Amino acid sequence: MLMTTRQGMKRWLAAMALSALSAAALAQAAKPHVVVLATGGTIAGAGASAANSATYAAAKVPVEKLLAGLPELGNVAQVTGEQVFQIASESFTNEHLLTLARRVSALSKQADVDGIVITHGTDTLEETAYFLNLVVHTAKPIVVVGSMRPGTALSADGTLNLYDAVSVAASKDAGGKGVLVTMNDEIQSGRDVSKTINIKTEAFKSQWGPLGMVVEGRNYWFRAPVKRHTNASEFNIDDIKTLPAVDIVYGYGNMNTTGIDAYGKAGVKALIHAGTGNGSVAAQAVPALQGLRAQGVQIIRSARVPDGFVLRNAEQPDDKYDWVVAHDLRPQKARILAMVALTKTSDSKELQRIFWEY
Ligand code: DGL
Repeated sequence: MLMTTRQGMKRWLAAMALSALSAAALAQAAKPHVVVLATGGTIAGAGASAANSATYAAAKVPVEKLLAGLPELGNVAQVTGEQVFQIASESFTNEHLLTLARRVSALSKQADVDGIVITHGTDTLEETAYFLNLVVHTAKPIVVVGSMRPGTALSADGTLNLYDAVSVAASKDAGGKGVLVTMNDEIQSGRDVSKTINIKTEAFKSQWGPLGMVVEGRNYWFRAPVKRHTNASEFNIDDIKTLPAVDIVYGYGNMNTTGIDAYGKAGVKALIHAGTGNGSVAAQAVPALQGLRAQGVQIIRSARVPDGFVLRNAEQPDDKYDWVVAHDLRPQKARILAMVALTKTSDSKELQRIFWEY
């Protein structure tokens, strides 16, 4: 049967449309596959009005909605999402850390996964990023991201932060640099970065500076990490079943030993002392810490002063007391490393080596 010109034209157009579609589908399938693991936080938050940039409920928006609200992600990667938790990050526990790290590790081993993004509350984002940096063995990009304002707020920062995170996670040049954090156009080291301001979008800083910047989907690198991480780490989430109890006491004028004694009674395996100045310890607190050390508790001197690093044997005779210094790690980061290190050793000299190297 002869086709009319009109029928032929329709067939031709349909064929063209199909081939265009398949070309587009092929092009999309050729893009890196990034998995977004959602845990909650402000980036999934919602406020009552657009004026609420600081008053809102965290951990409300599911990952599907986060991704659907950002169709531009499809320009940089094939993105799939998983809702691992839906919590405010101040409520993270060691179990949350272990569960998340196991999922990241499993996904990183999959040949069809090119990069992983974790959306996370900003309050403890720095702790999770450092933990993953220490225990996940992969050279693929792992990027942790949050936001300081909920998506419902004026000038919300979450969409661009998420777009940047997926873009970095889809980039080959982001691999092998340890766990990264993208916030406010910057690419930070998961080891070095901390939340330093509680209500500004430029909250995340490192005293050693960012590793680089990401602008319009392109990465600009200016330095690389020197501390051990991911594939170069002696620690592996596959070998860690639980994390030991490690807590933090804060130093201040009129210091007493109530907290130190209580943690000792509670059976901590290590105590981080967030001292004044260069990790100073009040004279009235030294005997209590020495007592804990004698019971086998590791004493790790960090500082409440955010920058610089604690000098061994300066403010306290660490060699004599058999104490450890946390180097440049802030107390909350020192706690993460101490927990991980104690899964492998209870030798204080080994601990000090680990604090120098990680
Ligand atoms: N509740 C805080 C948290 O989930 C909100 C802060 C944020 O995510 O920016 O970490």
